[in-house]
Amino acid sequence: MRILLIGPPGAGKGTQAVRLASHLSIPHVSTGDLFREHIAAGTELGRHAHTHIHAGLLVPDELTIGVIEERLARPDTERGFLLDGFPRNLAQAQALDGMLAGFKSRPDAVLDLEIPEDQVVRRIAGRRLCRQDRTHISHVDHSPPEVAGVCDLCGGELYQRDDDREATVRKRLKVYRTRTAPVVDHYQAQGLVTTISAHGQVQEVLHRALDALGRGRADAAGTST
Ligand code: AP5
Ligand code: MG
Repeated sequence: MRILLIGPPGAGKGTQAVRLASHLSIPHVSTGDLFREHIAAGTELGRHAHTHIHAGLLVPDELTIGVIEERLARPDTERGFLLDGFPRNLAQAQALDGMLAGFKSRPDAVLDLEIPEDQVVRRIAGRRLCRQDRTHISHVDHSPPEVAGVCDLCGGELYQRDDDREATVRKRLKVYRTRTAPVVDHYQAQGLVTTISAHGQVQEVLHRALDALGRGRADAAGTST
């Protein structure tokens, strides 16, 4: 399956993507995570991306599309993939359509996570990521680690993203409304979009997502929150 996960910052894309990708046995591809890996590794791409991410702006399309082309060329995506945070504007959506057309393919489903902005700001304010594995996401109130500052899953150090300051989050939300919301319309016109509420417990949102993909709730049994 080729799935796109769209939604505002803090909607829970990363939280759900890890679980859905595991259920569906497809790789989770997050442009935000790929950029953070480059930043941590000190690459030139990472340095360039960081100035945009730090400012709450989109990384330029030529860099972002290049990162995705390189990632989707790896053999583990042959059976499908779950894209988290890409495409984020119409030019990226058209580039993805072109890449998939090369394989006589297109996305199977687009999940649009919907959530009020005040909840987003609360979720992001309490978010902590793990330095060892940035897909390990926790929250100081909603899913607090057993030991403060330490990842429950791997023992890595937890940290706060530097673009999670409130002023930057507000800017990211504005970018989402102006640049990314039209991507939903683009796929809506192709009949691919299901909008699901991202409100509620992590497991409830996962059930909604699996239902939307036609992969019943039984599939979610045993998933931890
Ligand atoms: P990216 O990393 O993609 O950030 P984002 O889209 O702003 O989204 P977030 O990662 O902040 O939120 P999320 O929806 O994943 O929520 P999460 O699951 O963590 O991108 C960062 C930057 O990179 C961009 O601003 C841009 O500069 C650049 N970039 C990335 N892709 C790009 C592209 N395609 N083009 C150009 N530039 C690009 O959850 C948030 C918190 O809520 C967590 O603490 C979690 O524990 C908690 N939580 C989750 N679900 C629930 C729940 N149901 N109940 C309670 N708490 C919950
Ligand atoms: Mg994320």
